Amino acid sequence: PVDIYGRERRNSHGINMGRDSELAELKQGMERAVQNDWSAAPTGKSARAGEQGTVFSPVDTGVAVGKVTWTDPESVSDAVSAAIAAQKDWDGRGAAERADILDRIGDLYETHCEELMAICAREGGKSLLDGIAEVREAVDFCRYYAMQARNEMAEPVELPGPTGESNTLRMHGKGVFVCISPWNFPLAIFTGQIVAALVTGNAVLAKPAEQTPLIAARAVSLMQEAGVPEDVIQCLPGDGKVGAALTGDPRIAGVAFTGSTETARIINRSLAEREGPLATLIAETGGQNAMVVDSSALPEQVVKDVIHSAFLSAGQRCSALRVLYVQADVADRMLEMLAGAMEEIAVGDPGLLETDIGPVIDADQLKMLQDHAERMDREAKLIARTPLREDLPKGHWFAPRAYEIDGIDRLEREIFGPILHVVRYKSSELDAVIDKINGTGYGLTLGVHSRIDRVYRHIAHRACVGNAYVNRNMTGAVVGVQPFGGEGLSGTGPKAGGPHYLYRFVTERTLTNNT
Ligand code: NAD
Ligand code: ALA
Repeated sequence: PVDIYGRERRNSHGINMGRDSELAELKQGMERAVQNDWSAAPTGKSARAGEQGTVFSPVDTGVAVGKVTWTDPESVSDAVSAAIAAQKDWDGRGAAERADILDRIGDLYETHCEELMAICAREGGKSLLDGIAEVREAVDFCRYYAMQARNEMAEPVELPGPTGESNTLRMHGKGVFVCISPWNFPLAIFTGQIVAALVTGNAVLAKPAEQTPLIAARAVSLMQEAGVPEDVIQCLPGDGKVGAALTGDPRIAGVAFTGSTETARIINRSLAEREGPLATLIAETGGQNAMVVDSSALPEQVVKDVIHSAFLSAGQRCSALRVLYVQADVADRMLEMLAGAMEEIAVGDPGLLETDIGPVIDADQLKMLQDHAERMDREAKLIARTPLREDLPKGHWFAPRAYEIDGIDRLEREIFGPILHVVRYKSSELDAVIDKINGTGYGLTLGVHSRIDRVYRHIAHRACVGNAYVNRNMTGAVVGVQPFGGEGLSGTGPKAGGPHYLYRFVTERTLTNNT
């Protein structure tokens, strides 16, 4: 038996990169997969093809990774009609049958792990470690939500009543859910949203980020192979126009969105202004994440965790560290060590094990980071900048940087990439620091490094964040272990990979029978 918190459930297994045989097998599998012709196009019987395009790799912008046929935004309404027609039957199949299909999706992802990792590396610039984590998280979402749906939603809940009366509470899908995902977790988040909506009995119209349509297309083909009908999961590659057409349709029941706070606001407005049922919005958005390091912290551990949290994945995680607060008494030593460690970060081909971080996703992100770095060069003090090799291909490369600034309020918005901002604080200012962090309005992740119990308990109590991590890195939440999601400007909740997530996708119906 397994309880609602997933205890006794195991997360998916990884690859031991330290074992030559496993690494060689992985690399051969990825090299074989690169021979495949990857492509994406709208799926389902009703969505129509729009313009054609080519997906180029952020690692080398001269390399075409695959072809994409974008969705004609005019056909979105027909896709919604097809999803509505297919949903009733899907809902009628029951949660147990749908949970079995989710387990099959997880199994298929594991079977195709090397191919999925190869697409993540070439289309998304993901390193090997990020690629395997991506597949594992996607598999975990499938199995975790399958388990929960089987345990809690497969049978009606029997409720008490007077003699002769039976009362039951049943859960049904709400209808058609639109799932809109970002490019930075193009498989894990894409899959997590979709399988949660599916297992609860909804039909899904999935709009992947425009930067990563190929991995989405491959994932949806595996979902269909596992048994999800064609019109129950439709993949509609496209940009914000397709997303806006979907969220503006008066017939959709809800939106599961992950991306920037700005886009979440646009979607929120669109849902409020349209006619039709009051729609559910689950929005997981950005953060202005801080780490607070006091003078009792272990410097070696701090530096390791800062490098991990701020720079791995090229800083392109919503959970990544953006602002490091270091107690002034230990700051000089800490920053000297950090600068030394930043010298050693290997930026390069994400397909190589020796690479720590790959490129940033596209030219727009690169420009945004370059502009911010130029501003910091003028207004702040550079602590360190990782050297870039000269023989890198023509990709979207950005050297990790750390700057010293006055306070978190110098940053108007989330800077999504490998730029760390460092602030010194005095021990007497600790509460003011936490208030400033809260004052950003975001509330996603927080790191604390302190070996004084009272200090970290106090910070954890005062800080308004969804995920706080003490004396470790602050990224890479594990499904069912660290349910993930923020508050305030960082999102609506409930937490992905947590025990309450599925309940936002269902409508509850009570049936009273006086026999
Ligand atoms: P984005 O908001 O630009 O795009 C996200 C998705 O929204 C894309 O699929 C995009 O096409 C779509 N979109 C854009 N305009 C739209 C509109 N008007 N209507 C409907 N859909 C529209 O975000 P991004 O650059 O792809 O992703 C990075 C952001 O995502 C960062 O802010 C990061 O913090 C956040 N993020 C949050 C989490 C989390 O769990 N909280 C996880 C990953 C990423
Ligand atoms: N769940 C992802 C992380 O924790 C975003 O890094």
